[in-house]
Amino acid sequence: MNEETICLDSVRFYWSKKSDFKLHIPKLNIGKGEKVLLLGESGSGKTTLLSLICGFLSPISGDIYLNEQKTNNLTANKRDQYRSDNIGIIFQQFNLLPYASVIDNIILPLYFSKIRASRVLNQRDVAISICKSLRLPDSIKDVQASKLSVGQQQRVAVARALIGNPSLIIADEPTSALDTDTQKNFLDLMFKQIEENKSTLLMVSHDRSLSNYFDRIIDINDILVRED
Ligand SMILES: Nc1ncnc2c1ncn2[C@@H]1O[C@H](COP(=O)(O)OP(=O)(O)O)[C@@H](O)[C@H]1O
Ligand SMILES: [Mg+2]
Repeated sequence: MNEETICLDSVRFYWSKKSDFKLHIPKLNIGKGEKVLLLGESGSGKTTLLSLICGFLSPISGDIYLNEQKTNNLTANKRDQYRSDNIGIIFQQFNLLPYASVIDNIILPLYFSKIRASRVLNQRDVAISICKSLRLPDSIKDVQASKLSVGQQQRVAVARALIGNPSLIIADEPTSALDTDTQKNFLDLMFKQIEENKSTLLMVSHDRSLSNYFDRIIDINDILVRED
């Protein structure tokens, strides 16, 4: 059997006992190196599911495995460390540090993960080379993140997720702010880098037209069992 990057087994989650939204995922497996698009309408639970996979949220019951390590019963500190070592995250709002430079934003994950830092010989040089492959101009490296265009912020967010080669890249609707041409160009560059790194990709969108970039499309409605 192929190695699994993500495995969910009988995962249940709700925000509170009274909340209408109850998530139940009997099974979800994503193999090593797979590039998966998770589709679903707004409010269907995509971000909640990513937060469970990343360990920002804990399931009420069931198990979550990342690279065959069960993460839901790790202590909060160990889970944070495991996330830093194994997952590059591209948040929907990018979450860049606004007053830090492009380079400092990109190398930030290396402060939190010795494992990722150990794969990078010279942090600035590697950050600059990732910028180059994402077609960010050289002149941008010392610019404050708050001064970047949305398209540039997005590429910096991708560079930050990729540095130190984490095994899993999670992206929450990273293309939603872009027009169709910019979106295509962005995805071409991101996919090239992810393929070079041989990372697994789980990307969320509500845009079905992105489907042909991916190995597998999962509609969240096909893996969720709704409970009242
Ligand atoms: N922090 C929160 N507290 C309580 N309910 C939340 C919170 N975040 C999201 N929800 C609810 O969880 C459900 C799923 O939301 P979400 O995972 O953000 O959906 P999507 O990402 O697919 O748009 C929605 O009903 C939303 O209102
Ligand atoms: Mg969302």
